[in-house]
Amino acid sequence: MAIVEKEREFKFTVDDFNVLRKLSNTYSGIQVPDERFDMFYSRLSKRVRKLGLRDFKEYCQYLNNHPDDEFTEFINAITTNLTSFFREQHHFDYLRDVVIPELLMRNKATKQIRIWSAGCSTGEEPYSIAMTMLENMPADWDIKILATDLDTNVLQTASDGIYTQDRVTDLSPDILKRWFMKSKSSPNHVKVKSELQQIIQFKQLNLMQEWPMKTPFDVIFCRNVLIYFDRETKATLAKRYAKLLVSKSWLFIGHSESLNQICNEFELVATTSYRKNT
Ligand SMILES: C[S@@+](CC[C@H](N)C(=O)[O-])C[C@H]1O[C@@H](n2cnc3c(N)ncnc32)[C@H](O)[C@@H]1O
Repeated sequence: MAIVEKEREFKFTVDDFNVLRKLSNTYSGIQVPDERFDMFYSRLSKRVRKLGLRDFKEYCQYLNNHPDDEFTEFINAITTNLTSFFREQHHFDYLRDVVIPELLMRNKATKQIRIWSAGCSTGEEPYSIAMTMLENMPADWDIKILATDLDTNVLQTASDGIYTQDRVTDLSPDILKRWFMKSKSSPNHVKVKSELQQIIQFKQLNLMQEWPMKTPFDVIFCRNVLIYFDRETKATLAKRYAKLLVSKSWLFIGHSESLNQICNEFELVATTSYRKNT
């Protein structure tokens, strides 16, 4: 696709786009195809306006001169955070029907389960995992979910656990009653119950950098994140996940993703659901 530069409020050239997408790729691994030219403009023009700059050339310079202040804003603006409660429901069914029964046997000595939601966005994924675990596990087990993302804005929403009504309309009345309450501060919002928040730890983590976690996980969710990376990055990440999983444990990826011919350390056990071979 040829990129078409248009007349706009702030001049945005292909050169500016190339500078910005290279920066984004180097830092986050996110690949930015030509089709994202207009998206970059619409997301970042808000920053250009807010900073009182004349055009995107000035924004590139500003980013270069103020990396500490602006880089987080830049990354937050360009990430794609689409998510929902119980997105790809089949993973939660698999967790309940296959993974939990096996972990109940396998971890009975420690009564501990560790799960990682990598690329958790605004929190719907880790909260859905938490609901599934708490509904299907005995109360005396120690369950902990680490939920990480690169984007600090989405992490704030996630840890607040407050959502507009439209985010929960597809949930059953039983789930709503059991796991949500009316938000005291805002009538159009609901808040997740603290029982869920107590077992989740939200942290900023760039998947491209070092991971501080040393204790292995029983399950990793990395759904709809790999899609933004190139083949080599996907392969490196899959290998790193394998290293951080307990033997014969599970990795769930997104509906349009696959590890086929990318990593041979996993076998496919259900739709976009993998299990470590060894
Ligand atoms: C489309 S959302 C997926 C959310 C959730 N996992 C789901 O499937 O509903 C992708 C998330 O990956 C995060 N992300 C992208 N690159 C990342 C990186 N290098 N490190 C950590 N998170 C990243 C984005 O900020 C975004 O919130």
